[in-house]
Amino acid sequence: MTWNTKLSHLHNAVHPQIYRLHYSVQAPRPRRSWDVCQLQQPCDSTFHWNGQQLEHPDFGTLLELAHEADWQEVTLKEVEQIPARPGDLLPEGPARQQLRLRLRRQPGCPYFGLGQRMAPMRRDPGIYCNWTVDPPWGQHRGMASLYQAHPYFWVQRPGLSLGVFLNSTWFSRFDMGHGHEDEIEISTLGGEMELYVLAAQDPAQLCELLAQLTGHPALPPCWALGYHQSRWGYRSQDEIQELAEEFRRREIPLDVIHLDIDYMDQYRSFTFDPERFPDPARLSAGLQQQGVRLVTIIDPGIRFDLHSGYTVAREGALQGHFLRNPDGSPFSAYCWPDSALFTDYTRPEARHWWGEQQRFLTDRGIAGVWIDMNEPALFSHPFSQGFSQQHPVPLATQQGDGEDQTVHAEVHNLYGHHMAQATQEGLKRICPEERPWVLTRSAFLGTQRYAASWMGDNHSWWEHLALTLPQLNSMGLCASPFVGVDIGGFFGNTHGELFERWMEQAVFYPFMRNHSALGTRPQEPWQFGPEVEQRVRAHIQLRYRLLPYLETLAWQAHRHGWPILRPLFYDFPQDRDCLLHEDQAMFGPWMMIAPITRPGHRQRMVYFPEGIWYDFWSTQTVEGPAYQVWPAPLGQMPIFFREGAAVPMGNARLSTSQPLESLTWHLFPGSQATHGVYIDPHGQAIHLHLSARKVAFDTPMAAKLVVRQGSTQTELTVTAEMDSVEF
Ligand code: GLC
Repeated sequence: MTWNTKLSHLHNAVHPQIYRLHYSVQAPRPRRSWDVCQLQQPCDSTFHWNGQQLEHPDFGTLLELAHEADWQEVTLKEVEQIPARPGDLLPEGPARQQLRLRLRRQPGCPYFGLGQRMAPMRRDPGIYCNWTVDPPWGQHRGMASLYQAHPYFWVQRPGLSLGVFLNSTWFSRFDMGHGHEDEIEISTLGGEMELYVLAAQDPAQLCELLAQLTGHPALPPCWALGYHQSRWGYRSQDEIQELAEEFRRREIPLDVIHLDIDYMDQYRSFTFDPERFPDPARLSAGLQQQGVRLVTIIDPGIRFDLHSGYTVAREGALQGHFLRNPDGSPFSAYCWPDSALFTDYTRPEARHWWGEQQRFLTDRGIAGVWIDMNEPALFSHPFSQGFSQQHPVPLATQQGDGEDQTVHAEVHNLYGHHMAQATQEGLKRICPEERPWVLTRSAFLGTQRYAASWMGDNHSWWEHLALTLPQLNSMGLCASPFVGVDIGGFFGNTHGELFERWMEQAVFYPFMRNHSALGTRPQEPWQFGPEVEQRVRAHIQLRYRLLPYLETLAWQAHRHGWPILRPLFYDFPQDRDCLLHEDQAMFGPWMMIAPITRPGHRQRMVYFPEGIWYDFWSTQTVEGPAYQVWPAPLGQMPIFFREGAAVPMGNARLSTSQPLESLTWHLFPGSQATHGVYIDPHGQAIHLHLSARKVAFDTPMAAKLVVRQGSTQTELTVTAEMDSVEF
């Protein structure tokens, strides 16, 4: 292998706090239409780049090269982390040009980011690749890539939160001190390497910069923040109806039921099985009366069936929306419906066509769309013969049009991203008065503009429960606040204690869905006996009571890019101990959770950062910084309010379609603070100013105030005519 150092180099700021470094083998190519970077105009800044070091007067040295940037020609065999079909090759041209940049790494300095990993958040020496895959079951930290790709890492230093985004959709690899302890080696295929360096004074500002660069997260409709019930295996309209009734009979809140692949007619996307789901419009209308919405799964693999009257396949093929082989024949591969065709979502007309297909669902009252298998995941054998290996799209498959024509190797990582875009844009066109909701499995940095996501097929294991918080917190740092995992675990059989502990922490997942695989033990909330059911019901009720606070956090995530669920260091960047505790999290700035993720544990060590902390379940308070062993019986996971908090909570409801009748603010005076509550659907915010003895409102409101100072609690009522109250 010969490394060449001859590269073109460009550099400029695109924002006073974002600097761009660009290297290319040939002259830089024009920007792609799908480029996720939204800031492209050069601007003035006080950065200083001398070809070796990047400095900023406010932050000091940001980056330092350990070696000159270089490149080499590679073969597929040399890039061993790309799973490919036997005999496949990297197409000629940029796909074979691998660029490499080696940066100085400070051993001992905390590195984070790199998105979705089944691993602790700290990116300790290791290799992290970006290539979307459907991993074999039993995800673990040794897997080079998962469903989503976020080529972005984060360095946390005192007074500086630094982000480095590699804007490459090609395969990329981050060696974080693995090969050399004091180096980070970033490499990518594609003949070009574009890095954006984001310099911020604290984590919140870094998240704001990343959202400005790659897009602000889509605001979900309120119902999507409620509780979702799903299972691969609900097979009929009657079963779904009964499921909703069971929730209502047992008074367990529920907003959404997901229909997995069994609702379809022979796994044809955009169909319902005529016998098992004879009248989906009636089903959804009936559910809506109970305050329950339906979401349907849609897979990209369109059954290769051009002759039976299946218009989606016929129309898509006639209009040329599907991927093609190099000889122009349709590219087909196996997925649920056996042989299937795959939309080329890189092409705007294909995206438009796909978007229009959503009408089939919205006409039947479907409220949201769950898109799956979009890495894309293909099987080596027909599914009707059982599960088989993955069988990826050949890397040289042509995609895109005109100037944007390219090979699959360049846009592989964007397959889910573009599918999410097509789906969301279609829903927006079809129902412009409603906020669309799309849930995707595969994504790239930037997909947050179109969809929420879940972390794929986890397992009913304590280990996976323990890794959920680090995984979701990592997503939040990578511009993806609307995330969750399958509660209870997807594969394998869960049991009462695991399920219950999972549900306790899921109250705080921005997306809260119980989902499980075909053939596993049923895991609706009542499947583990009356005691578990009672405690789980109380937890789902707590989620609903917290919705005014969660909706406010969701609005802020949308407006500013701030994560909802986040690691302690996000809110306490000066506190070195906070970097250590990945098993706790902040839920917005005012609540902290310390979940139980081990069997049999009924207490745990909790770290309290600076300030006074109020126990959710009792009148106890703790002054941080402190470590304390805290009780955690079943049903009472440690939850705390932080001093200065004003957390708006609502009345208990069975669905978000029931009215929010009362608002209670839980106030914890300590430090002065201004709070807002975002009231949907008008986007109106009510502000409240809290000081040690007084609370004032900027908009008239009626609410109850529960003020806690130390162990005393006072309740006050505010009427719409009052603008301040003293206590
Ligand atoms: C995939 C999804 C899973 C779904 C299953 C069947 O494994 O990740 O959520 O239940 O496909 O559609």
